[in-house]
Amino acid sequence: MKKRIIFALTCAVAMALPVFDAQAEVDKHARNLAGSCAACHGTNGSNKSGMPILAGMDKALFVTALKEFKSGARPATVMQHHAKGYTDEEFELLADFFAAQKISKKH
Ligand code: HEC
Repeated sequence: MKKRIIFALTCAVAMALPVFDAQAEVDKHARNLAGSCAACHGTNGSNKSGMPILAGMDKALFVTALKEFKSGARPATVMQHHAKGYTDEEFELLADFFAAQKISKKH
């Protein structure tokens, strides 16, 4: 419980920090993009309810999966539709973001 509060505070502080440099701007963009994946893949890609877990996913596998969803080469129920909304550069950003996430024990 205490850990959860600390985690929430850390997140609040991290989000409230002003953006000072280009890298921070890139990180923010990645986080915003990743936000639309959370509905299905869970916060930070750590979903526990049967959807693929993205947290900690290998970057190359991640980018390949999205490119194949986008081109239609990889069968999917919903991801072909989702992948079409992003550029290759955004796939890279998303891959970096999710590769850096830890699978959360709590949800
Ligand atoms: C509407 C729910 C939904 C949303 C929103 C969604 N996904 Fe998915 N995702 C799925 C499902 C379901 C699969 C399994 C493939 C399929 O059936 O489409 C999947 C599969 C994947 C895979 C392949 C995982 C693996 O192990 O092969 C990746 C990578 C992925 N999604 C990334 C994303 C990213 C990045 C976003 C946000 C831009 C996102 N998804 C948004 C439902 C979703």
